[in-house]
Amino acid sequence: MNTKQMAAEQAVQYVQDGMKVGLGTGSTAYWAIAKLGERVAEGLRITAVATSVASEEQARGLGIPLLGFGEIGRLDLTIDGADELNDRLELIKGGGGALLREKIVAMNSDRMIVVADESKAVPKLGRFPLPVEIVPFAWEWTLDAIRALGCTPELRKSGDQLYRTDNGNYIADCRFGEIASAQQLADALQRIPGVVEHGLFIGIASLAIIGHSDGRIEVK
Ligand code: 5RP
Repeated sequence: MNTKQMAAEQAVQYVQDGMKVGLGTGSTAYWAIAKLGERVAEGLRITAVATSVASEEQARGLGIPLLGFGEIGRLDLTIDGADELNDRLELIKGGGGALLREKIVAMNSDRMIVVADESKAVPKLGRFPLPVEIVPFAWEWTLDAIRALGCTPELRKSGDQLYRTDNGNYIADCRFGEIASAQQLADALQRIPGVVEHGLFIGIASLAIIGHSDGRIEVK
């Protein structure tokens, strides 16, 4: 079993009968959805919403009951991956481009468990370029405003085309280097018109489960 799978399967143990669950996106969340599918096949009764088209398709294929956002109400628990996390459980997310839906789902959950392998745990955020979702309209100006905050933003590509999120927007991957204050940066990004959402998750995750290559599973 790989380290991502170890962390993801441990997180699924927190899912109880009757819960409403948010399904994350990415190669770690994939394992959580796979395990949930197994447990549903064994009789676990849950309802779920997904944070991406890819996760929705995976869940549907496994027979995990999915509900619309208007039907399900507040979620009990969301399990999702991260690109980086620090000891304060501040995260960088959006490497898979799903940060907006992931943040909406996580913030409508009583609890978010982050699942990751050991490479994601860092003393300071910022080695991973921060994904920022921006609207296509006047993206050049939005990029200028982001650049003025002290980074080198680059529009994400998919082959020769600009990458589009599930919401039809662009992603700017922003190299800030070490981020001294995630909160200050988040506030500054939020003030820029054209920025839909950024990948800093602050005060959202309540637990992190980290798989280590020596077989240890760290919970913090
Ligand atoms: C997608 C995300 C993912 O959770 C993040 O990129 C981690 O992905 P992986 O588990 O594949 O390493 O934020 O938008």
